[in-house]
Amino acid sequence: MTDKLAIPADEFRRIAGQAVDFLAAYYETLEERAVLVPTTSQEIRRKIDERLPPQGADFDELLRTFRDVICEYARHNAHPRFFGYVSSPGTAITAIGSMLAAALNINATCWRSAPTGTDVEHLTIDWLKQMLGYPAEAAGLLTSGGSMANFAALAAARSRKAPVNVVREGMAAAGRRMCLYVSEEGHFSIAKAAGMLGIGEANVRFVKTDDQLRMDADDLSRLIEADLAAGHLPFCVVASAGTTATGAFDPLGALADVARRHDLWLHVDAAYGGFAALAPSAWHLFERIAEADSVTLDPHKWLYLPVGCGCVLYKDPAAARAAFLHGAEYARVIGLERDEAFAFWDYGPELTRPFRALDLWLLIKYAGVERLSRAIEENIACAEYFQGLVNVSDDFEMLAPVGLSVFCFRYKPENFTGDLDLLNERVLVEVQHAGSTYLSNAKVRGRFALRGCVLNYRTTKSDMERVLEDVRKAAAVCI
Ligand SMILES: Cc1ncc(COP(=O)(O)O)c(C=O)c1O
Repeated sequence: MTDKLAIPADEFRRIAGQAVDFLAAYYETLEERAVLVPTTSQEIRRKIDERLPPQGADFDELLRTFRDVICEYARHNAHPRFFGYVSSPGTAITAIGSMLAAALNINATCWRSAPTGTDVEHLTIDWLKQMLGYPAEAAGLLTSGGSMANFAALAAARSRKAPVNVVREGMAAAGRRMCLYVSEEGHFSIAKAAGMLGIGEANVRFVKTDDQLRMDADDLSRLIEADLAAGHLPFCVVASAGTTATGAFDPLGALADVARRHDLWLHVDAAYGGFAALAPSAWHLFERIAEADSVTLDPHKWLYLPVGCGCVLYKDPAAARAAFLHGAEYARVIGLERDEAFAFWDYGPELTRPFRALDLWLLIKYAGVERLSRAIEENIACAEYFQGLVNVSDDFEMLAPVGLSVFCFRYKPENFTGDLDLLNERVLVEVQHAGSTYLSNAKVRGRFALRGCVLNYRTTKSDMERVLEDVRKAAAVCI
């Protein structure tokens, strides 16, 4: 009988080989699959429900269940026509990286616990700073995603700008409402972080946007002045470098000027758009990124990493330490020099952390930056090509200009007099059901939009043509 915990090497080779063979075939036939096979939660539970197993099973049997249920009914985010949300396809090389990282099971808390894990993370963070054009003296760490990176950045901003030590004394000791500014198109993780940090969601001011859905710097100034006049304490502006709904890119320079004038912290949420800095056509948007006090980036979005890798950068590492430094005796680092005494827990909320940097290191080294920038530029070109197709069609219209690689549009047949929001909602459900293309939805100035985000190096212009065909087919069923 094989020991199911300490698996012998030959058995490990055999079953890992089976898993790799399955994945190779999966990648090879991905495009032939439906993006999503319609099912229900009840149906899935019926296929996997069983009693807590007292004894182990054969791996062959588990791989069959993985193939026939878990994979079969998954939404295939790596499919070239999966355009929903802001979702990376992952890569084959990082599938291998995740297995290597799990085998070493490095706990990236600090250098003492993870000497190589820590130095690889420092190295990859340095590379991310170079990609973005962010100052070399900035510090950063990898997080579970953009929401946690935004949370960490706002914690640093709060500590730096509060009139007292709110980490120790609590927010009531600040004595005034601390106000935070984000555009009405900003991601909901900002308001959520404000709630968790005791800043209060009611103290998040939603700034108006211009005709391209970018934050309006004049409205920002007006809101700050009004809060000052009311005796509140404005402390932070959050700019979006690529909004979730339409890809709008806030004017960093104008917002940096307002922030500096009022001595506010400038955080840039570049969770979605940050890696567009690698695309020559978008680089100009990042011209003044170095003025940001902190930045959120999500390698698990537009750097194609698998789910679970965000990043926060702090221009002044001391601000992060003021928010997160804690000195429990069991964590005290003894007898090490400065570099070796480094601990990630001084810069973010987590203690135990997976070795996220391995996938990042592996992908950047394996693919090289030139290949990555070419893929990102092609994603932008696909979205713009799609906009061109819509603009010359008789039965579609764009609802917002393409922002980076996001397209928002709707089906609008000639002579249709019914409710376009309702029609497009039905079309969306039908498109998702049909399985050839997957779009998600957004509201643009109150109108229901079919929304897509090109975030996959497999997607080509012919896939973009296919989107319109698929939507027409779905609409024929709905009208
Ligand atoms: C602009 C923006 N910020 C933050 C987030 C949150 O990132 P995550 O899902 O990695 O927590 C998203 C997610 O789509 C986003 O688009």
